[in-house]
Amino acid sequence: MKQGKVDALLGIVFGDEGKGKVVDVFTPRYDVVARFAGGPNAGHTIIFEGKKFVLRSIPSGIFDEGKLNIIGNGCVIAPDLFMAEARELETAGYDLRSRLHISKRAHLILPTHRVLDRAYEAAKGKNKVGTTGKGIGPTYAEKASRTGLRVGDILEDFPRKYAALKARHEQILRDLHFTDYDITEEERLWLEGVEYMRQFPLTDTEAEINRLLAEGKSVLAEGAQGTMLDIDHGTYPFVSSSSTTTGGVCTGLGVGPNKIDQVYGIFKAYSTRVGAGPFPVELFDETGDRLREIGHEYGAVTGRNRRCGWVDLVALKYAIMVNGVTQLIMMKSDVLDDFPVIRVCMAYEKDGQQTTDMPYDTEGWTAVYRDLPGWRTDLTQMTSEDEFPQAFRDYIQFLEDELQTPITILSVGPDREQTIIRSL
Ligand code: GDP
Ligand code: IMO
Ligand code: MG
Repeated sequence: MKQGKVDALLGIVFGDEGKGKVVDVFTPRYDVVARFAGGPNAGHTIIFEGKKFVLRSIPSGIFDEGKLNIIGNGCVIAPDLFMAEARELETAGYDLRSRLHISKRAHLILPTHRVLDRAYEAAKGKNKVGTTGKGIGPTYAEKASRTGLRVGDILEDFPRKYAALKARHEQILRDLHFTDYDITEEERLWLEGVEYMRQFPLTDTEAEINRLLAEGKSVLAEGAQGTMLDIDHGTYPFVSSSSTTTGGVCTGLGVGPNKIDQVYGIFKAYSTRVGAGPFPVELFDETGDRLREIGHEYGAVTGRNRRCGWVDLVALKYAIMVNGVTQLIMMKSDVLDDFPVIRVCMAYEKDGQQTTDMPYDTEGWTAVYRDLPGWRTDLTQMTSEDEFPQAFRDYIQFLEDELQTPITILSVGPDREQTIIRSL
């Protein structure tokens, strides 16, 4: 029997590129959809048939009843938030229990990890990361220091293990003089969430995925965050705490690199960043405000304003390199419909020096732009690339030439239907 394959769909800038939407569109082509990194810091929006869902921990393939969805070992999971998210889907009529498996090796985010997240941020002074406050950093740090709790721990002797780790966190918080918190209600819901999670298959998902691959089944690995937030390759220390890049697919699902076939790199026709950290293309003017307004660039998890700017070829080239991207997906082109001029960041500049390679530290660099004519046409109703105005075709061609990678899918609106697959 022919081996199945894993395709990866990865955000290649600062997250919020539209991963949820495209995973939902791609799901009919795959047998399994799996999240391999991150946790409820993610907010993946899916819109179809007049309904809107924002998923945090649950893979975006969940709306298709014939498909298996997996929360892989590389993820971190907060039982209370998972319960709230899953119940919302169950209320909407989706039977999750038959189609969602959770890795026993995924790490648990405790309520006290979230308090630690706040405490560490508070202690950082002006170098705050602007985390989502979901306890992501402290949970991954604990995983690396080999003191964390995993999903499999809820199956045996859990109250004792939980009490011990919570006590350890409380001691750290006392040492930090961060004692003004109350998790009573949060903890009650969290423990209820732990009981709720027991109703799902808690499995060795890496064995499961490899067995399915051996049977010829196909897997879509759904990225969270984006390359520039990757713990190794992002704008450290203003990053998240997991491997959001292709390497993270292997470790976060337990699959060999030889099983990975297509790597889809998804980006917006412009740039956004939420949270702190350098962002050379950031616009502080009216154009930035317009991009935010037209693109509804407000965080899906925290509601914060997303910082906006033009598309960044330095970041995209770097991301294509570190991920081995084979195809690009460009989202939200419609947001640029009314702009007379579209700018593209070709290089970064600092102290009279220019570079097209991603610098070690992007702080203090500014963008060098090339201007292209806008298309000034409504793209949102278009259903085929034949309808595209010439200036939009030229924009696509320009990016493909610069990035040396084909743009095979274009999104022209938030709905599932507003997706154009190009015949190359
Ligand atoms: P993710 O985290 O990568 O899944 O992306 P988010 O859901 O956080 O942010 C993407 C936002 O853009 C969501 O509000 C989507 O509904 C919306 N969206 C996705 N694709 C398009 C598009 O092509 N055009 C427009 N206007 N909105 C889009
Ligand atoms: P999706 O999957 C955009 C950002 C936060 C902060 C930094 C660290 O929806 O694309 P963390 O809570 O992870 O410790 O925060 O990373 N961040 C995201 N930004 N989209 C996301 O996810 C993000 N997840 C984390 O704003 O700057
Ligand atoms: Mg998001």
